[in-house]
Amino acid sequence: MIVLGIESTAHTFGVGIVKDGKVIANVKDGYTTEEGGMIPFKVLDHHVQVCDKILHKALDIAQLSMEDIDLISFSKSPGMGHALKVGAVMARALHVKYNIPIIGVNHCIAHLTIGEKLNNVDDAILLYASGANTQIIAFEGHKYRVFGETLDQGIGNFLDSIGRYFGLGFPAGPKIDELAKKGKTYIQIPYTIKGMDVSFSGLVTHVKKLFDSKEHKLEDICYSIQETIFAMLCEVTERALAHTGKTKVVIGGGVGCNSRLREMCETMCKERGALFYTVPNEFLVDNGAMIAMQGLVQYDGKVDKNTAINPYERTDDVVVTWK
Ligand code: FE2
Repeated sequence: MIVLGIESTAHTFGVGIVKDGKVIANVKDGYTTEEGGMIPFKVLDHHVQVCDKILHKALDIAQLSMEDIDLISFSKSPGMGHALKVGAVMARALHVKYNIPIIGVNHCIAHLTIGEKLNNVDDAILLYASGANTQIIAFEGHKYRVFGETLDQGIGNFLDSIGRYFGLGFPAGPKIDELAKKGKTYIQIPYTIKGMDVSFSGLVTHVKKLFDSKEHKLEDICYSIQETIFAMLCEVTERALAHTGKTKVVIGGGVGCNSRLREMCETMCKERGALFYTVPNEFLVDNGAMIAMQGLVQYDGKVDKNTAINPYERTDDVVVTWK
């Protein structure tokens, strides 16, 4: 079976192709800025401009034409309404033009699925750390449950907003990662876990004050931010492992590309006898291949009649019929 996946929940427009469970193409183009963050209508413009090019590039790489595709999968939730619409419209247009079945999938669950499939494991806990999302997700009791999540902004958006304040542009995460490697002195930063949830918004003011004081090197501030917020994520993930009795962790989301976060997860898993899995960066960030993989897993031979986007769907709202 050949599945074409379309990703367009936020800054990335991606098309991936999965053939018999193997990724054979994964192409994307991301909206970026030198200064400032994402402006929804500009993201929409970006996706509209690149969608055609990305589709054809993916088909070229896979050496296929649309007639070869057996299923069109697209991210229908959650995300920015402006961005989601482009992927949904493109998926519907291709569905109608080529008479190919269509399925809409949940983006967060797709991060877990690609992590499991590429590592050939199942029943893992997903640490999903991206711009808009920060969740610890696992399948329990017939649903994907959220064991912990951010109470305010996503960890990536936190890093981006701080990075913007430091003048690092967007996305700031990779630059903060590089600066942190040169940091040596840990500066105390609030460590905020409430129950199983984490919170970042309170840190923004604190970190801005540290920066404005000019008493610390930017490298040390970045180092201290990373050590603190990644420890928060590791703690909640470890508690989810303890609660569920699961023994595997996969990481997903753009912040999963951060070398220090992966190192800390690896250490935590090792110390409690669990296994930690990651995937190449192209599958950690938002991508079309994971949407294709989720479509493949989820498709039951019926055309999805409800292709409306759902920007606010929660991971634990999804009715799981495929497991
Ligand atoms: Fe994502």
